[in-house]
Amino acid sequence: MKIKNICCLGAGYVGGPTMSVIALKCPEIKVTVVDLNEARIAAWNDENLDNLPVYEPRLAEVVGEARGRNLFFSTDVDAAIDAADMIFIAVNTPTKTYGEGKGMAADLKFVELCARQIARIAKNDKIIVEKSTLPVRTAETLQTILDSTGNGVHFEVLSNPEFLAEGTAIEDLFNADRVLIGGKQTPKGKEAIQALVDVYAHWLTPKQILTTNVWSSELSKLTANAFLAQRISSINALSALCEVTEADVDEVANAIGTDSRIGPKFLKASVGFGGSCFQKDILNLVYLCRFFNLPEVAHYWEQVIILNDYQKSRFAKKIISSLFNTVSDKKITFLGWAFKKDTNDTRESAAIYVAEHLIEDGAQIHVYDPKVSEAKIKADMSYLWELNGLTEQKIALKLKQIFVYKTPMEALNQAHAVAVMTEWDEFKTYDWEGIYTKMYKPAFVFDGRNILDVEKLIAIGFQVKGIGKG
Ligand code: NAI
Repeated sequence: MKIKNICCLGAGYVGGPTMSVIALKCPEIKVTVVDLNEARIAAWNDENLDNLPVYEPRLAEVVGEARGRNLFFSTDVDAAIDAADMIFIAVNTPTKTYGEGKGMAADLKFVELCARQIARIAKNDKIIVEKSTLPVRTAETLQTILDSTGNGVHFEVLSNPEFLAEGTAIEDLFNADRVLIGGKQTPKGKEAIQALVDVYAHWLTPKQILTTNVWSSELSKLTANAFLAQRISSINALSALCEVTEADVDEVANAIGTDSRIGPKFLKASVGFGGSCFQKDILNLVYLCRFFNLPEVAHYWEQVIILNDYQKSRFAKKIISSLFNTVSDKKITFLGWAFKKDTNDTRESAAIYVAEHLIEDGAQIHVYDPKVSEAKIKADMSYLWELNGLTEQKIALKLKQIFVYKTPMEALNQAHAVAVMTEWDEFKTYDWEGIYTKMYKPAFVFDGRNILDVEKLIAIGFQVKGIGKG
């Protein structure tokens, strides 16, 4: 079976970049990305490619080449479903904030709505591809919903989890370590798997495309994120020990990373991991383990999250204790708000939680991030405070403790301390001598990413505290 028309439900950080690359690499396939969010679709269609809703290096270039040729963004979901022979579901699957499994389980309501809409609209056989990260055995639920109309349309459900990392999404899609495709081991299932293999084979080699049964594929995505986050929590746990023993966590990471059995990646100590995936996917894994009555396994993975929360709060406490046990009315400048460099995504960013902790102690938080807007920063804080049950009035008052700037120098003027929250490269190139003259003394730098030149900063006169540095 040759795929001619692809539709993707969800034009977010995954749907947008993945479909843009598929369209670029498969010019004979028409790719339509749809979303219920009209503003998001309008931004994807914006003539000025600087206004795309997702910031990723090289994304604008890819969209610029394929959009209008065989790549389309639309809010007409029904029409796109009807026309497609393969439908990707790339909608959000956040942690549930209500009811059964609150704070742990993945909220599958958006995925379920997609399945119901596909079942209602489809008039001919379709391959449905799970691109969203889903709990193992979700394909079964989807199949039940899709088959519920009894109208004779055949749906083949595949699992094709996405392994791109934000900030390097286009590079990751062009040169994927692997693409994983899970499907039923029946003749029709194998045919569907092959149809999707053929799409990726436009630019990837057979060695890069792995095929498995559906359940292994679904579980592999949760497992990959759990292992990656576990490495960060492991090195962050040791960073606390380094700080009291005069060992240097970067030296320890380098020493263990050169062991080929361990490897060098994901060993950078930091203020803690963020992003929309690690926390939610591990919580989901923990929930699944409890559901299947495996409490020891659940407890094991839960520690990765507990340690990450500890690391964020440890960083905030270190700022407070260093500033003579109070930050009340002090100006703390955050360099960076995104959860990592080269993205405008702020979901679960460590900056949000550190800011909350410091604001609770009375601090004024002054923020500069190269890609994140004031509206987004304030929305992130409002959302957290809403979840914590604060009234609108209280939230409005607390928002007055946050100031956002378009240039770093404005943000740093007359600050008591600087906290590096995101590892943006530009922070390393700033005129730190100039910054020092503008700050209150003693001038503190809290490097939550260990990216700055500590010796140089100390020579200028700064009091510097890194992560895992004695
Ligand atoms: P996102 O929130 O950026 O995008 C999801 C989009 O789906 C939103 O624009 C939303 O309006 C839309 N949507 C929701 N219901 C819809 C419906 N019924 N019809 C059409 N559109 C609908 O989320 P993101 O980051 O793209 O993540 C999507 C999935 O991919 C999640 O399951 C996530 O876990 C997974 N994932 C995310 C990665 C990342 O780096 N962000 C990496 C790998 C997987």
